[in-house]
Amino acid sequence: MTTNRTFTMIKPDAVANGHIGNILAMITNAGFRIVSLKLTQLTVADAQAFYAVHAQRPFYGELVDFMSSGPIVAAILEKENAVADFRTLIGATNPAEAAEGTIRKLYATSMGENAVHGSDSDENAAIEGNFHFSGREQF
Ligand code: CMP
Repeated sequence: MTTNRTFTMIKPDAVANGHIGNILAMITNAGFRIVSLKLTQLTVADAQAFYAVHAQRPFYGELVDFMSSGPIVAAILEKENAVADFRTLIGATNPAEAAEGTIRKLYATSMGENAVHGSDSDENAAIEGNFHFSGREQF
């Protein structure tokens, strides 16, 4: 299994609000190396598959609609302790609870439109990274 890697998406809200550059700067300034990077858009089927683990949750439909509503930036990131350190950098899922200085505190607007995604385990980081990037797109 890949270790020391995590997967992120800059979500449609943050892309639409012009935050790509500032968020990527925060990520690289925090010591993450960019392994893979692209601007892309999820189809409804892509978003349903990516978030299949949440299919029984009441917010699933809203999540799928939002995540397929506009372009996103997808990236694989590398750093020692990447999954945990990235979740610290982005802050709590609900921006109202996110710590000062975190990406979500600065750029998220709500629980659903929360600016960035971060993988919750090494295993999911590998699955999610491979969902978006072929082997020759991972540097
Ligand atoms: P993320 O961690 O990227 O992946 C699951 C997403 O579901 C999460 O970000 C939130 O954007 C979203 N989510 C979680 N809980 C809720 C909720 N109660 N209402 C709407 N969206 C939610």
